[in-house]
Amino acid sequence: MKNNVIDIRKDFPILHTSVNGKPLIYFDNGATSQKPQSVIDSFSNYYTTLNANIHRGVHTLSQQATQAYEDARVKIQQYFKAAHSEEIIFTRGTTEAINLVAHSFVKKGDEVIISAAEHHSNIVPWQLAECNLQVVAVNDKGEFDNEDFKKKLSNNTKLVSVTHVSNTLGSINPVKEIIRLAHEKGVKVLLDGAQAVPHMKVDVQDLDCDFYAFSAHKMFGPTGIGALYGKRELLNAMPPYQGGGDMIKSVSFEKTTYNDLPHKFEAGTPAIAEGIAFGAAIDYLNQIDWKWAAQHEHDLLEFGTAEIKKLEGVKIIGEAKEKAGVISFVVEGAHHYDIGTLLDQMGIAIRTGHHCTEPLMKRFNISGTARASFAFYNTKEEVEIFINALARSLKMLR
Ligand code: ALA
Repeated sequence: MKNNVIDIRKDFPILHTSVNGKPLIYFDNGATSQKPQSVIDSFSNYYTTLNANIHRGVHTLSQQATQAYEDARVKIQQYFKAAHSEEIIFTRGTTEAINLVAHSFVKKGDEVIISAAEHHSNIVPWQLAECNLQVVAVNDKGEFDNEDFKKKLSNNTKLVSVTHVSNTLGSINPVKEIIRLAHEKGVKVLLDGAQAVPHMKVDVQDLDCDFYAFSAHKMFGPTGIGALYGKRELLNAMPPYQGGGDMIKSVSFEKTTYNDLPHKFEAGTPAIAEGIAFGAAIDYLNQIDWKWAAQHEHDLLEFGTAEIKKLEGVKIIGEAKEKAGVISFVVEGAHHYDIGTLLDQMGIAIRTGHHCTEPLMKRFNISGTARASFAFYNTKEEVEIFINALARSLKMLR
């Protein structure tokens, strides 16, 4: 098991590069994570030895590529502890996974409960589907308001769709309780897992969620691929999302019949190399000691939070009791863009802006934040350098 940050860093080549003449400190893991060498190698291996279209050919390469792609699906199923491999639908990422549910599970006028802390990708798809949105409040600490949720949840609710971990605040939502309450009323639950999967091991059967959406690139895999987990009986009952090759059993001008799961939802040639590399990322994550990783990230969060609070005029946005390794902050008299730009000059990558959560910005009456988001390969020394660099930047800006 991998439980030593120095050794783990050796697996990620980009962490040993420089930006603007300074060793890179990468604290923008919420936007995308870095990739281990095994994931990078997976692409080169695929295009060197395996490249062919899948589910279509009798020739050897096509069959081998199909096998590798389907093996990746099984790896993902086992990692997330889904009951069946056909419950894992490959998508382009979390956004497409949510759009799939918005297209195929709800209809115009259905009531969908979200929270005030949702990413745009868990707001706009429901608006496109012309659903009736009910928004659960978050308190001043950035915590999901369970009482408000209970008030809004009713027999009229078709779906609850909330984030597992907030990308902007880092709050870990009480998803088991949310699911329990929803199921008591016979309401299905979709979790946006994009920001949870880099920080914790997720067991969809233990959560008992009905849908779980996630992206490979946030979990040390490639961009352009992710998945929707859905309970088999729900997916079976849902109409296809897109039409095209691979999602059909037979086509005629008079009548088309659809393929079985998971292919019913996977029209067209998929991201084959990416899918296989996603499998390589899962192989890597299977080697991580998650108990260690959780503690390590928690230590970084506690240390970073205590140190940043010592800086005058800095306010943390999001101080939930249950929190992943994310520190969002605003500074009196300094704009987040300027902070991000100065830190970048010192080799430190953070994200600035509204983080695709404009309604949440409105809730806190701010235009944006500066956000440092950690992964298990970050170190306490990096946090120290970041805090010192931030202090220097603030002196320059104020
Ligand atoms: N949603 C991603 C983030 O929070 C891109 O940075």
